[in-house]
Amino acid sequence: MYRVLYRKYRPRVFADVVGQPQVTDTLKNELKSGRIAHAYLFTGSRGTGKTTCSKILAKAVNCLDLKNGDPCGKCDICRGLDNGSIMDVVEIDAASNNGVDDIRMLREEADFTPANTKYRVYIIDEVHMLSIGAFNALLKTLEEPPEHVIFILATTEVHKLPATIMSRCQRFDFHRISPQDISDRLKYVCSEEKIEIDDNASLLIAGIADGAMRDALSLLDQCMGHSGRITEEIVRRTAGLSDKSSLLSITDAFISNDVSGAINIIDELYKNSKDMARLCSELVEHFRAMMLIKTMKQSKEFLVMSENDYEKTKQQSEAVKLSYIIGVIDILQSAYDRMLHGVNRRIEMEMTAVKLCSENKSVDISAIEARISAVESSLSAIRSDPSVLAASQHKAAAPSPPVKRPSSEEMERLRKDAVPMTQWQDVIEDIKKYSRTVAAGFEGSTAYISGRYVLVDSPNDICFELLRKPAQRDKMRDSIKRVTGMEYKLGRYSYPDEPKSEDTLSKFVADLKSAGVSVEEINKK
Ligand SMILES: Nc1ncnc2c1ncn2[C@@H]1O[C@H](COP(=O)(O)OP(=O)(O)OP(=O)(O)O)[C@@H](O)[C@H]1O
Ligand SMILES: [Mg+2]
Ligand SMILES: [Zn+2]
Repeated sequence: MYRVLYRKYRPRVFADVVGQPQVTDTLKNELKSGRIAHAYLFTGSRGTGKTTCSKILAKAVNCLDLKNGDPCGKCDICRGLDNGSIMDVVEIDAASNNGVDDIRMLREEADFTPANTKYRVYIIDEVHMLSIGAFNALLKTLEEPPEHVIFILATTEVHKLPATIMSRCQRFDFHRISPQDISDRLKYVCSEEKIEIDDNASLLIAGIADGAMRDALSLLDQCMGHSGRITEEIVRRTAGLSDKSSLLSITDAFISNDVSGAINIIDELYKNSKDMARLCSELVEHFRAMMLIKTMKQSKEFLVMSENDYEKTKQQSEAVKLSYIIGVIDILQSAYDRMLHGVNRRIEMEMTAVKLCSENKSVDISAIEARISAVESSLSAIRSDPSVLAASQHKAAAPSPPVKRPSSEEMERLRKDAVPMTQWQDVIEDIKKYSRTVAAGFEGSTAYISGRYVLVDSPNDICFELLRKPAQRDKMRDSIKRVTGMEYKLGRYSYPDEPKSEDTLSKFVADLKSAGVSVEEINKK
C-alpha cells in the first residue's frame, strides 16, 4: 500500500528533525540530565514538526535505553509504543474532543499510574480548540499534576490560549524551516526513494512550501506522479505556477504601458485554465522580489529563484522607482482581495492590468485611487438620493456635528485598560456562519476588551466600513454576545489621523467637477 511521503518520512528521533535546534537540542539535553517538566507547549506555524516532536518526546521520556537524548526505537517500551501494545501515550485531538467532559474523563484517568511505563503522556493537539470549560478543567490538572503524568500541548494559535495555561508550561517555539533545510531534506527523501531531482526543482518546492515541511513533502509526492527526473518545469506545472517568463513579460508590459501586451498574456493564461487570483498573488510575489532587490543588499539570500530569473527581476526593479513598486503591490493586493470576495476574477485582473499600464508612473497611484473612489461614492449617493447634496450644503453652512467617537483622553484610557480578547477568532467563526464574506472582511483583525468595550484593530479598513453599517454592528454585537455571554459596545482600538477640517461643500463640489459634473447640474440638484 502506498504511504504518503510526509507520513513515511516523519522523523522518529530528534536527530532527524530539521531546522528546529532551539527545540531539539534543548529537549535532548533535558532528557539526558533527567530534567523533565510536567507540561510542554509546542507552538509555531503548520507543518514544522510540533506533532512529530510530541511523539518523539513521549517515547523518549519512557525509553529504557536513551541514545544521546533520542529514543532507542528497540527497547520493549519503544517497540510497544510503536506497535500499539502499550497504551500509555494518549493522543487527543482537541478539535473533536473539546468539551469539559472530555477533559474531566482525562483527569480521572490520569490519576491511575501507567501500566507499563514510567510516565503516561497526554498529547493534546490543536489545544486552542478546547472550550473555556475544558481549559479550566485542564488548568486544575496542570496546577497539581500527578508525578507520573506529562502533558504536551501543541497548537498553531498560541494567542488563543489562556495565559493561565501558558504560564504552567515549558514553551517551545517552532520556526518556519529555511528553504535550504527543506531542499536538503527533499533531496534526502528522493535519494531514499531512488528518484532524481534537480537542485532548482527542490529549491522551488521549498520556496512554495513557505517554511512548512509537510507542504513540501506533499508537493514532492504530487511531482513524483510524473515519470522520470523531477525538474523545475514539472514542479511549476504540478503546483499550477505560471511560467516565470509570463510573470516577467506581464511586468515588462506594465512598466512600458503596453496594455494590449499585458491583456494578451493574461488571456493566454486564462485560456490555459490559470486561476486569476493565483496569478495575482504570484505577481504580488514578483513585485515583492523587485522591492527586496531594490532595498536590500543581500536580497539574493531571501529570494528563492534561479540565477537567470534573479538577473531579469533585478533589471526590472532597476527600471522603476520604489514608490511605483509599492503602489503596484498595493493595487494588486486589493484586486486579490476583491477576487476572493467573489467578483469576476478575469475582469478584475484585466481592469487591474489596464490600471497598471497607466501613463503616469511618477504620481502616487493609490492616492488617485482613493480620490476616484471618493468621487464615485459621492456621485452614487446623489444619484440615489438628491437630498444628499442639500444635506451636504446644509452641513457646510452650520458647523458640522462632532464625529461620534470617544475623546482622545477617553481613547487613551480605554487603550490603557485594554486586554487582548482571546475569543475574537471565535467571534469571527460565529460571523462566518451567516456570511463568509463579512467574516473575510475581518481577516487579520484583532480585538481588545476594555471595560464595556470591544475595541477592534485591523490593518485594513474593510472591517470598519462594515462596522459603520448599523445592521452589521448589531450582528457583530450578537456574535460577541453568543461567544462571551456579555453585551459589549463596539469601538476602534486606534483611529487613523483626523480628516482635515476642510470646507465640506467646496471639497464636494471640487470632487463633482473633477468627475465631469457641470456647475449647472450641481446647482440644479
Ligand atoms: N522539522 C521537521 N523535520 C523533518 N520533517 C518534518 C519537520 N516538520 C515537519 N516534517 C514533516 O511534515 C510532517 C508533518 O509534521 P508535523 O505533523 O510534525 O507538523 P505540525 O507542526 O504538527 O503541523 P500542524 O500544525 O499542521 O499540526 C511530518 O510527518 C514530517 O514528514
Ligand atoms: Mg500537528
Ligand atoms: Zn527505547
